[in-house]
Amino acid sequence: MLRGKFITFEGGEAAGKSTQAKRLAARLEGAGLGTLVTREPGGTPLGEDIRGLILKDHPQEPVTELLLFAAARAEHMTSVIRPALDEGTWVISDRFMDSTRVYQGKHYRIEREFISQLEKYTVAPDYPTLTLIIDLPAEVSMERANTRGTLSRYDAARLETHQLLREGFLEIADSEPDRCVIIDGMLTPDNVEAAVWQAVNERLLAKVL
Ligand SMILES: Nc1ncnc2c1ncn2[C@@H]1O[C@H](COP(=O)(O)OP(=O)(O)O)[C@@H](O)[C@H]1O
Ligand SMILES: [Mg+2]
Repeated sequence: MLRGKFITFEGGEAAGKSTQAKRLAARLEGAGLGTLVTREPGGTPLGEDIRGLILKDHPQEPVTELLLFAAARAEHMTSVIRPALDEGTWVISDRFMDSTRVYQGKHYRIEREFISQLEKYTVAPDYPTLTLIIDLPAEVSMERANTRGTLSRYDAARLETHQLLREGFLEIADSEPDRCVIIDGMLTPDNVEAAVWQAVNERLLAKVL
């Protein structure tokens, strides 16, 4: 049996990741492909508990947060993502390792080499096949996050922080063009959905259907 493909959505706060993860899943299901939508941090009971800890207790030390994310990711990969891919299911994750690279690496300046090592033990060899980076100007990201109601720590962050996070995602797209596609998050939800679908078709479906 053909292995499933692993697709991740990345980007700043309120870029439209969760909205588009669901829409893409519906399209893939429509094309007859078994699909699983999951999210990070989270994805397993243990991972959801860790998500709760991070959101509730706001670790003071960035390394604490990095290690909690890594722990959740290891479980997620081993007990959910990899088994699903093995049985031919397509997996869509709402945030994944690039968020760690950007938030803990670029924003909190934790050494890239340490983060890469953690990826090696938590993700390898099942790195995402395709990463859709929804890109939004920092001002818009801030504005949408503020009107969404519940504010995470990053939602409430300053403009410069949103700017830095945006740059971080764009740098990843630039350095790994085979894996990443930048999607314009300023389009209407329907048009973002169409751009996502086009990327998935070009990069993945053309090869399997
Ligand atoms: N393309 C879009 N244009 C305008 N608003 C959008 C768009 N996509 C999502 N939104 C709105 O922005 C907010 C954040 O969307 P969401 O999908 O939860 O983003 P994320 O998961 O990236 O934080 C929601 O209120 C949603 O309705
Ligand atoms: Mg979301």
